[in-house]
Amino acid sequence: MKIVTIIGARPQIIKAAALSRAIKTHYANEIQEIIVHTGQHYDDNMSQVFFDELGIPSPDYNLHVGSASHGVQTARMTEGIEDILIKEQPDFIVLYGDTNSTLAGAVAAAKIHVPIVHIEAGLRSFNKSMPEEINRIVCDHCSTLLFSPTQAGVENLKREGFPMDNEPPFTIDNPKVYHCGDIMYDNSLHFAEVAATKTNIISQLGLENKPFVLATVHRNANTDEPMRLNAIFSALIELSKECVIVLPLHPRTAKLLKTNLEDRTREQLFNASNIKIIPPVSFLEMIALERHARLVLTDSGGVQKEAYFFKKPCIILRPETEWVEIVQTGNAILADADEARIIAAWKHFETYPPTDFPDIFGNGQAAEFMLEQLLKASL
Ligand code: UD1
Ligand code: UDP
Repeated sequence: MKIVTIIGARPQIIKAAALSRAIKTHYANEIQEIIVHTGQHYDDNMSQVFFDELGIPSPDYNLHVGSASHGVQTARMTEGIEDILIKEQPDFIVLYGDTNSTLAGAVAAAKIHVPIVHIEAGLRSFNKSMPEEINRIVCDHCSTLLFSPTQAGVENLKREGFPMDNEPPFTIDNPKVYHCGDIMYDNSLHFAEVAATKTNIISQLGLENKPFVLATVHRNANTDEPMRLNAIFSALIELSKECVIVLPLHPRTAKLLKTNLEDRTREQLFNASNIKIIPPVSFLEMIALERHARLVLTDSGGVQKEAYFFKKPCIILRPETEWVEIVQTGNAILADADEARIIAAWKHFETYPPTDFPDIFGNGQAAEFMLEQLLKASL
């Protein structure tokens, strides 16, 4: 069986490590994987570092699309992916998550009848102003095999009319939904021990035995809206009076801090000795930071979940989340970009640190399960 895997943005590169590892370990003779990097993310610390660190095979193709408006970026990717699919004639295309690289892969493949495997299917924010919500809905509705990490994802697909007890052969018109656990849980378990021995970021940052908050901010709804960006950073400045904050800065945010932050807030931010703003870190370094942090504050989908995997409370800088279970279990709080709510959430978790993190993301073997289903479906 031949699959073409599309990656492009940081979280997709990391997710792909789990599938490539499972292919290499269990199915090297049965599955050939062709990796296509769209080039959506291209800085070394947003892309190459993950290939170097996580054992992901080098991409067979790189489309080098770079940054552009949604339409231009997606169109360039779609054109490049279509050419590759025609040349490679795979049994499946594998798409991760909800980025523009996902959307481009879905549109290219569906029109020329290459069956789509969507990993992270069914997730919804019910907020169509997010580019990701459009991307994931289109991708799900073009897919043949839909792997949902959570029960909430399965329920969303059910509501949208996906069949639940259907029989093979599976096609775009008879798609199959699986509840399979989270591929990033596979990765976090696998790399946690490696991270413990192979990175020294905690000592590099002088954080041994020092409580700190790990923060990330990159959602366009937060970075592109000056009011929201100012509220988030004012909250960070306030929190830094009580605790060290480590902020690996996404390039989008680095760019927009210059234009969208009020002068006074920017000055306070860069003068706050307790806020450590650092370039994006590697995945192993990120795991080390997540494991040692007292609390995580983020608008990232991936980082929210990893906080849960490592049993840390999480303040979500969004009005809603696709990972509803982590809020329902009381381990995360939706604080939006609201300074008072962010501070209140911090105080809540300081007073009532959560201790119970039920298993809701599978058993760490989602990748193996998915590959078994692909092999069955390709018969
Ligand atoms: C994208 C995804 C988002 C995902 C995020 C993960 C879409 C619509 N959004 O958002 O769902 O959560 O990736 O990180 O696909 N830039 C660099 N260097 C890079 C990459 C980006 O400087 O290597 C800067 C550029 O100024 C670029 C901006 O970041 O314009 C945004 O990059 P883009 O890939 O368009 O969107 P993200 O915000 O990264
Ligand atoms: N990540 C990383 N280095 C960083 C920030 C994040 O390796 O400096 C990892 C993080 O551990 C998670 C993934 O990148 O696995 C999440 O990506 P991101 O926050 O960019 O996107 P999202 O998950 O919101 O789509």
